[in-house]
Amino acid sequence: VLPYPIVARAGALDELGEMVRRLAPAHRYAVITDETVAALHAERVTRQLPGDRTIVLTIPAGESSKTRDQWARLSDLLLAAGAGRDTTILALGGGVVGDLAGFVAATFMRGVPYLQLPTTLLAMIDSSIGGKTGVDVPAGKNLVGAFHPPVAVLADLSTLGTLPSKDLRAGMAEAVKHGVVADANYFHEVNIALPALVARDGWRLESMARLVNGSIAIKSAVVRQDEREGGVRKILNFGHTIGHAVESLSDYRLLHGEAIAIGMVAECAIAEQLGLAPSSLRGEVTRALDAAGLPTRVPANLPGITVERVLEATRTDKKARAGVVEYSLPSGVGAMAGRERGYGIPVPDEIVRQAMGVISRVQSPDSVA
Ligand SMILES: NC(=O)c1ccc[n+]([C@@H]2O[C@H](COP(=O)([O-])OP(=O)(O)OC[C@H]3O[C@@H](n4cnc5c(N)ncnc54)[C@H](O)[C@@H]3O)[C@@H](O)[C@H]2O)c1
Ligand SMILES: [Zn+2]
Repeated sequence: VLPYPIVARAGALDELGEMVRRLAPAHRYAVITDETVAALHAERVTRQLPGDRTIVLTIPAGESSKTRDQWARLSDLLLAAGAGRDTTILALGGGVVGDLAGFVAATFMRGVPYLQLPTTLLAMIDSSIGGKTGVDVPAGKNLVGAFHPPVAVLADLSTLGTLPSKDLRAGMAEAVKHGVVADANYFHEVNIALPALVARDGWRLESMARLVNGSIAIKSAVVRQDEREGGVRKILNFGHTIGHAVESLSDYRLLHGEAIAIGMVAECAIAEQLGLAPSSLRGEVTRALDAAGLPTRVPANLPGITVERVLEATRTDKKARAGVVEYSLPSGVGAMAGRERGYGIPVPDEIVRQAMGVISRVQSPDSVA
């Protein structure tokens, strides 16, 4: 459905050489990756790239690398290596690498082609698709960036074999989200498949492939209708207004998917309070997140995440319009409220405060380390 190929299967990276020659042949290839992924998977990528001018640029793993400083450093390294307009970038890694390398590609020489080679579940089912690139700044997440679609996405499911379970679980948050915002059948399928998928010994490749391709189908259909997020693409922000606030306030000790899990629970409560969704919704979503082993409340060891700070942080989110924070809220599993107003629903602070009670800190053994 999107104007670029998205291939998700075990062994997808074997198509890289052919894909690059066909869609983005270049004088020089630059693989941007993080240190962890470089050690595990970079060689599979570099050996397929034509010519002998390929460079590999790495960043330290983790959200704290998604910065303007790293964007500047990578851009300077490209220039120092003599890279020009005829450069193709390969973003090999999770969402951090994808967003950052995509932003480098969007701005280098006013834009060069890039391929997304996602290696986390989250990146495969969500961040590598749709062309949103950017970096975090002190004022908030993803506040500086560009729309720059990749020329192709190759998601090699075999790379998930080395992904830590915590990151695998975090990726499941976006799969649950896709079900809630767009497809009740998919939501139920994910629910059934989840326990086995997150228990590493219950790993089933076909089951993972169905989940990844199901999410990709939902995300690409939404993005195709609304690339620049003027309307329906906003439904993908469910859980992300509160979620981004919680993520920033945790100083990124919560993974994106973990923060979004907490955010979805809070936003279900908001939808309930506003009379948009039945009270059963929050229970259904919470059960799915529990099955994935994701947090549904703020962990006790993150005392900095207070109701008032969350409220404050939501105001600098991109989703604020004319000073009013807009939420994307479900009306049930598989359906979103607020279509008539472009899926952006303003919510009074008082309602947000009440909903925050639902996710307020608990003493629990599963608090993040
Ligand atoms: N652009 C979008 O539309 C969009 C959508 C959703 C999320 N995001 C962004 O994505 C980011 C989160 O992405 P993420 O969860 O992939 O985080 P990440 O990129 O930090 O990856 C998580 C960790 O897994 C490691 N890793 C990656 N692949 C591995 C593999 N195959 N084996 C072993 N280790 C591996 C990484 O080194 C890292 O430590 C956030 O910055 C979020 O804002 C963007
Ligand atoms: Zn997300």
